[in-house]
Amino acid sequence: MKAFIIKRYGKKEKLHLAEIAEPTLNEKDVLVQVHSACVNLLDSKIRDGEFKTFLPYRPPFTLGHDVAGVVTKVGSRVNKFKAGDEVYARPADFRMGTFAEFISMNENDVAMKPKNISMEEAGSIPLVGLTAWQALVEKANLKRGQKIFIQAGSGGVGTFAIQLAKHLGATVATTTSAENFDLVKSLGADVVIDYRRDDFEIKLKDYDVVLNSQDKKALEKSLRILKPHGKVISISGPPDPDFAIQIKGNWFLKIVMRILSAGVRKKAKRLGVHFSFLFMRAHGEQLGQITRLIESRVIRPVMDKVFPFEQTNEAMSYVESGRTKGKVVIKLRK
Ligand SMILES: NC(=O)c1ccc[n+]([C@@H]2O[C@H](COP(=O)([O-])OP(=O)(O)OC[C@H]3O[C@@H](n4cnc5c(N)ncnc54)[C@H](OP(=O)(O)O)[C@@H]3O)[C@@H](O)[C@H]2O)c1
Repeated sequence: MKAFIIKRYGKKEKLHLAEIAEPTLNEKDVLVQVHSACVNLLDSKIRDGEFKTFLPYRPPFTLGHDVAGVVTKVGSRVNKFKAGDEVYARPADFRMGTFAEFISMNENDVAMKPKNISMEEAGSIPLVGLTAWQALVEKANLKRGQKIFIQAGSGGVGTFAIQLAKHLGATVATTTSAENFDLVKSLGADVVIDYRRDDFEIKLKDYDVVLNSQDKKALEKSLRILKPHGKVISISGPPDPDFAIQIKGNWFLKIVMRILSAGVRKKAKRLGVHFSFLFMRAHGEQLGQITRLIESRVIRPVMDKVFPFEQTNEAMSYVESGRTKGKVVIKLRK
């Protein structure tokens, strides 16, 4: 089958179109013919070698963490899916590789695709949808009447998280540039701040939750806009000791992550607020709940651009520009 592979780590490395063997199938796996994939900054960070310490992929390997497609084969102990099912997923770590014609995944990481959206739209959902779900529902336990600040509301995670937060009954503040005001308002944002003109720390106070996706400065300001016992959930680092436990890291990783997050944990403690890091994980059951929200039109996909499979490198560069509105999709089949 055709796949875009990484031959060596590096910021300037391009993906190479190659002919590789079709994936093999374990007894709990489904084989999915990829109709659409989606580019995430995670793909670029893995290519750059940024995550080598805890995701030590050995080149050559295939990138890609989002897929929508059709099940073509199932393992002997699969009971949730059958050939012909239209599905979508964020494959588990160490099983990525959606920039290819086929991918095999454990059935527990997969969900039925929402019936009311296209394959391209479905491919844009899993990674950002699960990130928002795990931040807002699992970690923050966001409740009706609470106030949440979601940074970069026009990005992949932001466009989904705003809609989920509104569904959960929260008041939502977000940052974006003036060009994207209409977009984030159409998704339900109540307070919109132009990050190029205004400082969110001056405009926001007494928030219950912050979803942090920007730099260290934004993270430290976020701690200061929380009410006592408020929570910052950061998806852009630094990793914390709980993350070392989640990935079953060895003693060395545990120490590294303790040191990396020591400063922000100390500042949070001093302010009487809570900091935690989230690295999202594959979860078919949560994705199934997201399917229901999309089918009941509570959440809609937001797509910036669709690239043909041959232009996967161009799609990666476009995402790396940092200016995309919603998601960038790669289309493999009609
Ligand atoms: N830990 C995890 O599990 C996890 C999961 C998903 C994503 N992430 C990380 O979270 C971050 C965001 O991911 P994403 O996919 O949502 O990014 P994205 O889609 O590439 O974000 C692009 C958007 O960010 C906006 N933006 C850029 N700089 C901004 C700033 N300083 N303040 C506010 N908005 C700004 C841009 O708006 P303008 O064009 O108007 O500037 C653009 O619409 C990345 O670092 C990604 O790696 C982590």
